[in-house]
Amino acid sequence: MLPVIAQTDTPLLTAMTHYVDSGTIPFHTPGHKQGKGMHPRLEHILGRETLALDLALMPELDDLHEPHGCIKAAQDLAAELYGADHSFFGVNGTTGGIYAMILTIAGPRDKIIVPRNAHRSIIGGIILSGAVPVFMNPEVDIDLGIAMGVTPETVEKALRQNPDAKGVLIINPTYYGVATDLKRIVEIVHTYDIPVVVDEAHGPHLRFSSRLPLQALDAGADICAQSTHKIVGAMTQCSMVHCREGRINVPRLRSMLQLVQSTSPNYILMASLDVARMQLATEGRELVARAVELSDWVRWEINDIPGLYCFGTERVGNPGVYSLDPTKITVTVKGLGLRGAEAERILRQRYKVQVELSDMYNVLFLITLGDGEKEARTLVEALRDMALNHGGQRDFSALEEIYNSITYPEVPEQVLSPRQALFGNTCKVPFREAAGKICAEIITFYPPGIPLLCPGERISEDVIEYCERLQEAGLHISGPEDYTLKTVKVVE
Ligand SMILES: Cc1ncc(COP(=O)(O)O)c(C=O)c1O
Repeated sequence: MLPVIAQTDTPLLTAMTHYVDSGTIPFHTPGHKQGKGMHPRLEHILGRETLALDLALMPELDDLHEPHGCIKAAQDLAAELYGADHSFFGVNGTTGGIYAMILTIAGPRDKIIVPRNAHRSIIGGIILSGAVPVFMNPEVDIDLGIAMGVTPETVEKALRQNPDAKGVLIINPTYYGVATDLKRIVEIVHTYDIPVVVDEAHGPHLRFSSRLPLQALDAGADICAQSTHKIVGAMTQCSMVHCREGRINVPRLRSMLQLVQSTSPNYILMASLDVARMQLATEGRELVARAVELSDWVRWEINDIPGLYCFGTERVGNPGVYSLDPTKITVTVKGLGLRGAEAERILRQRYKVQVELSDMYNVLFLITLGDGEKEARTLVEALRDMALNHGGQRDFSALEEIYNSITYPEVPEQVLSPRQALFGNTCKVPFREAAGKICAEIITFYPPGIPLLCPGERISEDVIEYCERLQEAGLHISGPEDYTLKTVKVVE
């Protein structure tokens, strides 16, 4: 029987330090043997103390894939904290979690309803499973040039047209911190008795403040994956999958997590999940509250700088915007005549400030529990100075005119599953002559980052024309092998 443990404990880290302190001679992996066999160039940087914790599977350190001891205890504490029936640690990012969630609910030829602006891990999961995606278009804020959430009405329509779907996947919140009405979506989806799967990569902190959108499980979702590494204290690659029993086949989820993860998961990474959970349980509310307060101040200051705009609660109520995570600071720089990428370069080169991402009109900054007043002030001062001294000459009106004058084409007809298209024989043809052919790659324009074509979809005249107009306007293309889009890869 496992000893009784509390949220203040870190069962996995404790077991690891006991093993190291016992002085046992390691005749096991990893080969660097607590750093002694590692080249000094790296060994000095990482340090012997850290490297001693780079351990391997053994009875007292448990097994991620069949946990019964300290890893099970650590995962159970995470489940208790997040209100899950089961939580699973992941060392292959939320990417691995999303693969496993999709593989759990959908197999070859099963339908799964997903947003059209799905992260590549969702498309990857669909390719691995052989499922057929039914795409929903998210709402778009043309002024900001970014995709917002998918509305409950859009989900309802997709389900009405596809009552045989095996599940609905929602991205919530988005990278930019925009949340949809997930509770309402869950109610709608559950009338079909299928699971709601949430890509909650950007939401491991939501449970710890009433100022943040509702976390997936609290909205009634069946399963979610969170990038603990992105927002809170775990190391890069570390993620958690949380689920509720009922609509999720938990043994199948376990075996799918095994399928997509290493048999040699890194113990330091897993321990960082254990400790991040303990930190959130013991200090999460204060730490997240401080990040929210800091973000409020930063947003207020930025909106006082001529030429810059940081959207906030005034956009709540717009299509696809039910609530917001204020710690995502999206700064729209088009008022300075700059593209997001240009602002990113200036901020990095002149002010040593690195953004999380940039797109056509915006740069995104994350304020987390790792930031303090000093960082916040540096950011605001850098933006103030950039706005004063680095305005560009760019005129975005042509681009905006295009958006206002043409309508987004219909989601193309899905002829093959993405998996069939990917593994089929492919060839390249001139894009202009590709109407009627089946696309074998993803073609996305930024903004707003919603694919116009996905593998397995029939290319129409409408889509070709739309792409050509966006190209003429100078939008950034992502996805195709030939990014000039003179040619496109199609299924033979
Ligand atoms: C919306 C979304 N989902 C999933 C992922 C994948 O997460 P990870 O990097 O933890 O694998 C990302 C990563 O940026 C993301 O933005």
